[in-house]
Amino acid sequence: DQVSCLFHTDHHTIFNSSAPMSASRPQTIRLRDYQPPAFLVERIHLRVDLSGGTAQVDATLDLHRNPAADNDAPLRLDAEFLDLESLTLDGAELEPSTLRDEQGTIVLHDVPQRCRVESVSRFDPAANTALSGLYRSGGMFCTQCEAEGFRRITPYPDRPDVLAPFTTTVVADRATCPVLLSNGDCIDRGALDAERHYAVWHDPFPKPSYLFALVAGDLACQEATFVTASGREVALHFYVEPENAGRTEHALAALQRAMRWDETHYGLEYDLDTYMVVAVGDFNMGAMENKGLNVFNTQFVLASPDTATDADYENIEAVIGHEYFHNWTGNRVTCRDWFQLSLKEGLTVFREHQFAEAMGSEAVQRIGQVRLLRTAQFPEDAGPMSHPVRPDSYVEINNFYTATVYAKGAEVIRMYHTLLGDDAFRRGVQRYLQRHDGEAATIEDFLAAMEEAGGLDLQQFALWYTQAGTPRIEVEDHYDAEHNTYTLICRQSLPASPGQPHKDPMHIPLAVGLLGRDGRPLAARRPDESTAHAHTRVLELREPEQHFVFEQCPERPVPSLLRGFSAPVKLHYPYTDDDLGFLLAHDSDPFARWEAGQQLALRVLLDEAQGTPRPDGIERLEEAFRASLEAPDTDPALVAEALTLPGETYLAEQMDVVDPQAIHDARQRVRAILGEALEGHWLILHSQHSGPWHYEPDEVARRRLRNLALGYLNAGSERHLSRALEQLERSDNLTDRLAALAVLADSPRAEAEQAVDAFYQRWSDEPLVVDKWFRTQALADRPDTVYRVHQLTEHPDFTLDNPNRARALLGAFAQGNPAHFHSPDGSGYRLLGEHVLRLDPNNPQLAARLLAPLAQWRRYNASRRHAMREQLERILERDALSKDVYEVASKSLG
Ligand code: ARG
Ligand code: ZN
Repeated sequence: DQVSCLFHTDHHTIFNSSAPMSASRPQTIRLRDYQPPAFLVERIHLRVDLSGGTAQVDATLDLHRNPAADNDAPLRLDAEFLDLESLTLDGAELEPSTLRDEQGTIVLHDVPQRCRVESVSRFDPAANTALSGLYRSGGMFCTQCEAEGFRRITPYPDRPDVLAPFTTTVVADRATCPVLLSNGDCIDRGALDAERHYAVWHDPFPKPSYLFALVAGDLACQEATFVTASGREVALHFYVEPENAGRTEHALAALQRAMRWDETHYGLEYDLDTYMVVAVGDFNMGAMENKGLNVFNTQFVLASPDTATDADYENIEAVIGHEYFHNWTGNRVTCRDWFQLSLKEGLTVFREHQFAEAMGSEAVQRIGQVRLLRTAQFPEDAGPMSHPVRPDSYVEINNFYTATVYAKGAEVIRMYHTLLGDDAFRRGVQRYLQRHDGEAATIEDFLAAMEEAGGLDLQQFALWYTQAGTPRIEVEDHYDAEHNTYTLICRQSLPASPGQPHKDPMHIPLAVGLLGRDGRPLAARRPDESTAHAHTRVLELREPEQHFVFEQCPERPVPSLLRGFSAPVKLHYPYTDDDLGFLLAHDSDPFARWEAGQQLALRVLLDEAQGTPRPDGIERLEEAFRASLEAPDTDPALVAEALTLPGETYLAEQMDVVDPQAIHDARQRVRAILGEALEGHWLILHSQHSGPWHYEPDEVARRRLRNLALGYLNAGSERHLSRALEQLERSDNLTDRLAALAVLADSPRAEAEQAVDAFYQRWSDEPLVVDKWFRTQALADRPDTVYRVHQLTEHPDFTLDNPNRARALLGAFAQGNPAHFHSPDGSGYRLLGEHVLRLDPNNPQLAARLLAPLAQWRRYNASRRHAMREQLERILERDALSKDVYEVASKSLG
């Protein structure tokens, strides 16, 4: 592989001497070229010795030819980053330098039907800055093998359709690494000599190499148990570095809830005797579902009121659930190849969503899911990196762990659920898991199980996996007063996307309800129904244009469309402002109610941003806000959602040529007006002081309302800055402190700046809090924000080596602060470009992710477009660019 040479310049073996990328273009991998593996692995024994300066890995693979593959296909062993000391086939020494293809893969011809390959490799975990494979994080050794990290540990057929039982011996110094972990059960442990000890782990469940994990270090452990539905006792072990001991209580309780929920909802039990979770400070992603040994980014596992916000507590429960649910949807049944990634990720995100809805408020969860889809996935779907839920090609698979594969993938699963109903959907999932247990499956396998369980034809539905882009649905209606019939006319279209100029019509479930003049659900009869009723109906769109008739409809209704966001589409219907106000007041579907309020706000904000404010727009919004604030018995969490204006990224989505400054100014003006006009309400909300901190739904909602109030008050007038200062001083939790800090970070006043500094001084030894301090300033709105972000890159606590830190400053700035990232002088783009180039040689995966905002250059005016392109071109000029960054930059310009 071309990337490997970048990490290992001082060694001279074949594994780091491949040509830099400028000499050979990186290869495109295509789904249509899939070939089954020539050889399967019956078992693998690993011995990983971490006691020396470098890691030494001895591997023994027992292989046999795959009956499903070509008879003369060679054995391929992927390998990169490592120095291979020896390689033998059935005991005979091989000379690997003669056996390597252009990608670095070892290719062995004329291999016996059954054979044994043994290898000895070495590498330096501390030099593994890509955080893929086996690396050092703080005082510990840990691994991240998905997607293709295992080949950086030992030569192996590193592909998800090769499943094997693993036995792993970990050897390390007892003093520095008292804890030695790998997948499965510990079957032996003991001393090797005075300094070193070992542990042997055996995982009886055959698994692909991407689910391998190993951890060694000096770790504190919190233990608990879980008794499964069938009465087996499972030991739960949470490992953290000693300074984080005592912060795993919340995650542990969340795990127990997730385990119970999967049993009661899907009938799925955990299968090993131990479930381990390790918290790691340096991690490229959120967490990883390695069999029996999850590795988590500290951000998604550690919780204490001083170091985690309410949102963090919620995310921890979601990610703990997500990784746990993978044990069935991902591990027991895995993916045949990486094109099928959404088979495990879309399904697991959907299960995570169902879990969150069951544990909390369904409507609030749904609103959060849709916000994320609209701000992260819709722009991706409309940009140059647009790809279907099942991509058909990639250069670097790590670039395809995307909002499309994850979040849109989860929406696709939700649509099966909508079309089949809960019972049939559950049966379908169970059928899929039973049929493919222990196998590597495809999206077709899942779809077939769903078709059978639902008795449905889902062939047109399958287009959701292959066509990229967000469908647009135009709805018109017609009421015939003479015959009491009401007709909804639905037209669907799907814009062209890279490589897909023409699209076929999709199968789209559209949930609708009708409202009468009195605001009550209106009964009517569809031609295939026996009586009129007023419940939500799911209309199935399949044609470019379809007419849906409702009979016995006594009056012209107001339609409530796309209830619960039944499909990941953009829906347009010519609602009047009055219609939206009416739906906001009366719709029985809480999601649709929220949506009506957002659409109303969207109109006001967009008109304001385009310099044509609607005369009565603000008053309407104010009225809607007032109604929400005064609603007697509404869930306070839903009130908070209603009082949150659409974000700048979602507003940008609505504009042909995005003007980030105009959007920001418009939103600030409207916030200021609402802040002043409703000052009395905000003051009451903000003064409602609750007792000591608890993580409990009503308390969380109350804090959110209180902090919304603080924000509106300060948008309205500087007079309220003292409230933020006081709140920062007096709060007993990070949620309230950070809300105050966000207000203060915008202020030029000296006492505000002092408070921001003092916050750092107080929390400088808490990495996750320091991340938030960087993030808050990256998101600040000040005339000199870009300069300050630049200065912060030189702060002693800033480092590109830690992904959380890099994302906290640069990711937040480029993705979360559009008005300043898009500064007309191009300084924001230069700042990002420079750091992407700096990061690329060390951590290409992260570099490619940070680069993503520049890919959207086509959405801006000529001068911004030019300045954004300039950075992409500057990046592409670099020799020996990683394929990660190369793919994003070249596709962005292409
Ligand atoms: N499977 C993990 C999850 O979604 C994500 C790991 C992705 N890692 C990577 N380097 N691409 O739970
Ligand atoms: Zn996942």
